[in-house]
Amino acid sequence: MADSDLYRLYNGLMLPKIAHTDESLNYLQNFQVKDDDIFAVTYPKSGTTWIQEILPPLLNGGDLTSVQTIPNWERVPWLEENQAPLVLDKFPSPRAIVSHMPCHLMPSSFLNSKAKVIYVARNPKDVLVSSFHFHKMATFLEDPGTLEEFTDKFLSGKVLFGKWTDHVKSWRNPELGDRILYITYEEMLQDLREIVKRILNFLGRELSADALDRVVNNGTFKNMKTNNMSNYSLVPDVVLDKKKSNFLRKGIAGDWKNHFSPELDAKFTAVIQEEMKGSNIRFPWDEK
Ligand code: A3P
Repeated sequence: MADSDLYRLYNGLMLPKIAHTDESLNYLQNFQVKDDDIFAVTYPKSGTTWIQEILPPLLNGGDLTSVQTIPNWERVPWLEENQAPLVLDKFPSPRAIVSHMPCHLMPSSFLNSKAKVIYVARNPKDVLVSSFHFHKMATFLEDPGTLEEFTDKFLSGKVLFGKWTDHVKSWRNPELGDRILYITYEEMLQDLREIVKRILNFLGRELSADALDRVVNNGTFKNMKTNNMSNYSLVPDVVLDKKKSNFLRKGIAGDWKNHFSPELDAKFTAVIQEEMKGSNIRFPWDEK
């Protein structure tokens, strides 16, 4: 299929047509943010599904009913996707919502609100590898070609939601002040309990030790893989071909080392470093 059949351009960003319609993007633009809304924002393949697993029980005292009975895209919907208008208006507050949007494309009611944001970043090399495999399984996306070809697209922003560097920089908007918490996928991997506690603290909430254990235990890769409400097994193979890859694929940090040649690594690192220059943003993976 031609790219134009698969993607639409929205303010210069490539979005998959399957999930983004005129209606859903209108809904995004006109969305009335409430002060107690909680947004989790990610560049694709940075841990969105993971945060969709953690937030509902974190917000309801550790009750796992919703994660066991409601698919992730309905329980914590994407603000910009088709599901949002169907579910969000009926949600009780506080509403947990995910988004892949860069900060400047959030609805106008967002910046003036007090709604909090959790921004999850992941090493872009692992984002690229995860996305590469996702493009092989997702029949609604173009074939990624070779990893080298896909890397060129990734670095030039000709991929879903544009350049990784633009996305992370957009969310360093100083106007957000202490409304935003920055965490990384790698920190979640290293110590999920600690990160859940950090999120609780940021949201001004508490959980009993038992409830905290439940949230953390439910959010492990192993448990999510067997949860049909979170592992995308409900999506038919004609849309997500599980013979090509699993959505919850490896769940590790550093898989890029199994994929990148030294040349690809040097090129990727140079481009990302150049684009991040002057931004004062440092990530744990930059030191390695
Ligand atoms: P991999 O393809 O590297 O395995 P998103 O949800 O933003 O699309 O991101 C998907 C990535 O997050 C996949 O990475 C997936 O396996 C990983 N992921 C989801 N839940 C996870 C968990 N509990 N632990 C570790 N990784 C997880």
